[in-house]
Amino acid sequence: MASRKFFVGGNWKCNGTGEDVKKIVTVLNEAEVPSEDVVEVVVSPPFVFLQQVKGLLRPDFSVAAQNCWVRKGGAFTGEISAEMLVNLQVPWVILGHSERRALLEKLSDWTNVVLAYEPVWAIGTGKVATPAQAQEVHDGLRKWLQSNVSPAVAESTRIIYGGSVNGGNCKVLAAQPDVDGFLVGGASLKPEFVDIIKSATVKSSSA
Ligand code: PGA
Repeated sequence: MASRKFFVGGNWKCNGTGEDVKKIVTVLNEAEVPSEDVVEVVVSPPFVFLQQVKGLLRPDFSVAAQNCWVRKGGAFTGEISAEMLVNLQVPWVILGHSERRALLEKLSDWTNVVLAYEPVWAIGTGKVATPAQAQEVHDGLRKWLQSNVSPAVAESTRIIYGGSVNGGNCKVLAAQPDVDGFLVGGASLKPEFVDIIKSATVKSSSA
């Protein structure tokens, strides 16, 4: 189990101004967090702030876009293509968030995929899944990967939980064997995001 590095994503959604971005990044840059061997941290600002955040953010954290266009570029007003993200060296993208109901194309390569389980009733509601509920679904997803993709992909793919994760509930969730990290919305805009990052140590000490 120790082979899956804990992953914490901050989904800023449609929030913030240039000033807010600077404040959030300052908090993150000054935070003492476990090393990169223990936790991978990725924050996802709105598109318009991606470059700013990328420029200011500490080098051990990275950025994600909140969506991208399913096809190649062209005459698609308002869309952002995957090629553009690659060109700007944005290494991650959130796809298929329930707030968008986007398409997820069939995958042939799982190497760089992190799977997020986010019960819709828990997103932005303050109602978090119990550790047992999260574990049950993550275990089910891993078994699904095992039978439908491969045992190796099931073992190595990080399955993260999202939905009202905060500084108070992250540790008990992180202690579940199949919870490999979090996708955090509301709390990723606040200093408690640092506590969520630190919950990775629960995993490394129990591994
Ligand atoms: P929340 O959002 O943490 O505010 O519930 C999670 C998400 O939608 O990714």
